[in-house]
This record gives sequence, structure tokens and C-alpha cells, in this order.
Amino acid sequence: MSTLTSWQESELPKVEKQLKDFVQTHAENEQLKESMLYSINAGGKRIRPLLVLATVEFLGHSLTQQVYQVAAALEMVHTYSLIHDDLPAMDDDDLRRGQATNHVVFGDALAILAGDALLTGAFELIAGTKLASYKKNHLLRLLAKSAGARGMVAGQVNDIQSEQQSLSFSELTALHQKKTGALIRFAVVSGGILTGQDEKVLNQLDDFATHLGLAFQIRDDLLDVLATTEQMGKKTQKDELAGKNTYPGLLGIAQAKTALSTELEHAHAILENLSLDGFNSSLLEEIVQLFELERGKE
Ligand code: IPE
Ligand code: IPE
Ligand code: MG
Ligand code: MG
Ligand code: MG
Repeated sequence: MSTLTSWQESELPKVEKQLKDFVQTHAENEQLKESMLYSINAGGKRIRPLLVLATVEFLGHSLTQQVYQVAAALEMVHTYSLIHDDLPAMDDDDLRRGQATNHVVFGDALAILAGDALLTGAFELIAGTKLASYKKNHLLRLLAKSAGARGMVAGQVNDIQSEQQSLSFSELTALHQKKTGALIRFAVVSGGILTGQDEKVLNQLDDFATHLGLAFQIRDDLLDVLATTEQMGKKTQKDELAGKNTYPGLLGIAQAKTALSTELEHAHAILENLSLDGFNSSLLEEIVQLFELERGKE
């Protein structure tokens, strides 16, 4: 068993508990609670929470309840983004995490509202932690920025508005950095904020995560073309039909694979630099390897 596998088996259940406990105790309406828990319990790779936890470990700090709470809050924002991304008015998907999408089971209205409640709940969860107020404030501001009109939502708007029209390479990179990269950057930088790092380290973490976030969406684009619906738990071969701007669509498969490797090499190099400062990067390195193409279908 790899270090990552055993570590994640012992640590991720603590994030799951925060997620489930929060929804169980905060949603009054039974149907709303059922709809929220349906998407939370559908699984998912939990890449973003893993990055929060692994960054804290990398920086030499122990994992506290507050770390699990921030990781859970981020997964709530991510899960909301998926519920809304699958709606008929957006990507119109009926399969997610190997199950029928939220709106197919609960209807559009409840799916929209479950997404809204997961998003707002994430902020309530962080606001209610026992962190020092300056850290809480920083995390809340950064999460709002990463998820909102300059981050993930901006990327989603760009993605929808540019269907059936070709973006340039730099426009596509900017889109991906927002729609997927912004939350992945939050995952890593939040580990730095939680452990009280200075501006210099926060910037290096941000730089590392910018490459990682872009790599993640390039890989997702590639897997839409190369992987099966069964492997992914969501419908594949859809992006081209929907007129989406993607790396393989713009560059072809071979060059998109090269772009993915290049981003991961940059991420590795930045991590190595940070490791010279005395941090132990082995877990984080293992997570970066999950972003390689062949590991993505597991
Ligand atoms: C899917 O994210 C949406 C993208 C940003 C590409 P994940 O691939 O992390 O989805 P889950 O959480 O494992 O279902
Ligand atoms: C969406 O990207 C990323 C989000 C912000 C949810 P995609 O639309 O490519 O994600 P999938 O392929 O449906 O998971
Ligand atoms: Mg989409
Ligand atoms: Mg989609
Ligand atoms: Mg996709």
C-alpha cells in the first residue's frame, strides 16, 4: 500500500464526518437534506480536501479539527459546483459520480437549492470554526474570491458563453484557470493560511497550485475524449458535441498531453524548491502524480 493510500484511508473519514454532520444538523427540510446528502454521499475523489490536508502536513503541522472543517467546506463548494454544472441549463448531464445527477433525482428546483445551501453552508462552516479571526477572515475572503465572479463562477460563465465559438490558447488557459484552477488554488493556499505561512510561502504555494489546477482541467478534457463513461462515472465524449473549448479540441490529443506534462513538471519544480526550505514533500508529490493522465481514470 502506498503512503498516500494508507494516509488517505485514515484521514479522509474525518473530512467525511465533518461534511455529513454539518448537513445533518443544518438542513431543516428533509427533502433538501436528502438532496444535499445525495450528492455528498455519491463519492468523488475528494482531491481538493486531500490537497488541503497534504499541504498542512507538508508544512510540518498536525491535522486539527479546523483543518478537516476547511477541507469539508471546500468539498461542499465543489459539490455545489458539480450539481449546478450538470443542470439542463448548463451542461445537461444525467450521470455524475456513477449515479443519476441531482436534478434527475430531485428535480431542477431542489437541485439548484441544494447547491445554494452547500455553497452558503461552506461559509457558515468556516465562520463557525475555532480558528483565530484573522485566519478565518483570510480563508473566507479567499474562498469567496476563488468560488465567485472572479473565480470558478467566472470560468463557468466563460465556458458557457464561448460554446460554439473558438477561443485562443491564452483565452482557454485563462478559462480553465478560473473554472477549475481557482478552487484547487484555494485548496493548497488554505493549507498555508491555516498554518500561518508568510506571504512568500503563500505565493509559492499559489504558484504551485496554479499549474496543478490547470493540469487538472487539461486532464479532465483529455479524459472526456479518451476514457469511458464507466471509468469516469460521468458521460464522456460530450465536450466536442457541446461545442466546448478544450485543450484536445484546440491542440489535438498529443499536444494536449504534452501541455498536461509541462504543467505537472512546473508544479514539481516549484515543490522541489519549497522542499529545499526543509518541508517534506512526499505526500504532496504522490498527490501530484494522481494528476497524471493514466491515474485519472481510477
Ligand atoms: C470534476 O471534478 C469537475 C472538474 C473540475 C473537472 P472532480 O474530477 O474532482 O470530480 P469528483 O469530485 O471526483 O466527482
Ligand atoms: C466544470 O468543468 C468544472 C466546474 C466548475 C464544475 P466540466 O463541465 O468539464 O466538468 P465535468 O466534466 O462535467 O465534470
Ligand atoms: Mg461544465
Ligand atoms: Mg460538465
Ligand atoms: Mg469535463
